[in-house]
Amino acid sequence: MAETDEARLRAVLDAAIAVSSELSLDAVLQRIVEAAASLTGAQYAALGVINPSRQALERFVVTGIDDATRNAIGDLPSGRGILGVLIRDATPLRIDDLSADLRAVGFPPNHPPMRTFLGVPVLLRGVAYGNLYLTEKAGGSPFSEEDQEIVQLLAGQAAVGIENARLYESATRWLEQLQSLTDVGNALSAEIELPKLLELVVTRLRELIDARIVFIARPQPDGAALVETVAGAAAGEFAGLRLDPMRSKTARVLERRRSERVDSLLEDPEVDQGTARRMGARTGMWVPLIVRDRAIGVVVAQDKEGPDARFTDEDLRIAETFAERAALAIDLSERVARDALRRVVAGQELERQRLARELHDETGQALTSILLGLKAIEEAANSQDVRQSVRELRELVVGTLQDVRRLAVELRPKALDDFGLVAGLQRLAETFAEQTGISVHVETALGDARLAGDSETAIYRIVQEALTNVIKHAQATTVSIVLTRKGDRVVAVIEDDGRGFDAGDTSDERLGLLGMRERIALVDGRLSVESRPGEGTTIAVEVPSR
Ligand SMILES: Nc1ncnc2c1ncn2[C@@H]1O[C@H](COP(=O)(O)OP(=O)(O)OP(=O)(O)O)[C@@H](O)[C@H]1O
Ligand SMILES: [Mg+2]
Repeated sequence: MAETDEARLRAVLDAAIAVSSELSLDAVLQRIVEAAASLTGAQYAALGVINPSRQALERFVVTGIDDATRNAIGDLPSGRGILGVLIRDATPLRIDDLSADLRAVGFPPNHPPMRTFLGVPVLLRGVAYGNLYLTEKAGGSPFSEEDQEIVQLLAGQAAVGIENARLYESATRWLEQLQSLTDVGNALSAEIELPKLLELVVTRLRELIDARIVFIARPQPDGAALVETVAGAAAGEFAGLRLDPMRSKTARVLERRRSERVDSLLEDPEVDQGTARRMGARTGMWVPLIVRDRAIGVVVAQDKEGPDARFTDEDLRIAETFAERAALAIDLSERVARDALRRVVAGQELERQRLARELHDETGQALTSILLGLKAIEEAANSQDVRQSVRELRELVVGTLQDVRRLAVELRPKALDDFGLVAGLQRLAETFAEQTGISVHVETALGDARLAGDSETAIYRIVQEALTNVIKHAQATTVSIVLTRKGDRVVAVIEDDGRGFDAGDTSDERLGLLGMRERIALVDGRLSVESRPGEGTTIAVEVPSR
């Protein structure tokens, strides 16, 4: 083997060893640059590494230029001119006279004169990491084919080194992030109150990915998404914002249940540009919160802090991992809250039932006995005055007995437990009509079939509240209650011909309508309220029959 060949082989081997040793990346690149210069006889050699976003040089390693000259030249090459050609085309380039090349833009002041040039891309598996280039071959002759070959080999080693360093860096960063994800995850599982939990989710995610703003939007029954919790810039201003179902990206992501990163909101036709402008957002990430295949919300992050507002793939990965934990925690918190409510409601029903029974059986019986006793006294009395007083007393007791029965029915009619929903509702309607003079039609297609206990109670209580609202607000003359079957569900529709109200405006809802919604959610049913001023009110509920 010729002496020079052996030296070249050795140099490449050394470079390979350097790459796999524990040297810092800068030290490895320095060795490679020096080897390239000495093997080709170049006076100057440099290696530039482009940053992952491919916008600027991340490193620049040189040999042949002392620090003083380097400082005098100033800024790193910006990638215009010949270096730009090399970055764009990523193919080797040999030039005999730089000053005569049309593509050259000239050197900055204080730059040493350079004529001969050899540049090769630093390439690995088709990815260009930068370039390695040499100038001023000793003796003034141009760089040769062999020079190019050896420099390409060295550049290949440099690429391996750079990729290794990046992989290592990203693995370490990922590890750190996993650690903070675990910390946050633990914090999430310790918080059971929903508002606090949502707050925790947005603030911690915002820290993790350095976003200007992070918010959670949750789906509404009408398909819109409501911004519930916001962390970051102008948080107060955007909480409670309703995102239109037709025009918002958030609503689309809720439908698709797939996360998405958008580098320029302006160019995304799904983004509601008006809202984006109001929020001052340029980039974004949308990550759905999914529980058992259902999207229970979306976490939205906008604008990464720093010079580049775009989020990275890694940010998306973190947000996704985080969202998985958050979704579970939110689901748990909601289940706990629902459970507590269910227990309260069940306890309340039980208590009402007990009171109703007691009133009916004990108090009612006692009053009936008193009536009988009074009757006997009345008959036995020989004074007209006494008979008169006893009769008056008897009427009072009859009135009280009626009050007690009505109260018992209101608390929970025996018919509901003994004969089911239809009987219960008929009893309710009769009492209502007697009391108010408003006529009530009950129409049912259920026969005397029994439904699940919770469903019967839910419908009964909802009809009861609807009738109370009719008395309080509707000024109606008739009310109809219609029960039908729809597959394995039962539908109840309560309609009045009163003055109606604006059902789209839920800000007026008090305990009545809210209680209806809560009850219906507990039995996994659906409720809709339709009303407009002057047009009467229709409430429709749907519950499982079994
Ligand atoms: N059938 C109806 N006709 C006209 N307006 C109604 C009817 N039902 C409800 N509303 C309107 O909707 C509002 C909210 O009803 P909701 O039952 O939630 O509260 P409320 O009846 O005012 O108070 P609460 O039920 O807590 O005692 C009412 O104040 C009323 O303005
Ligand atoms: Mg009410």
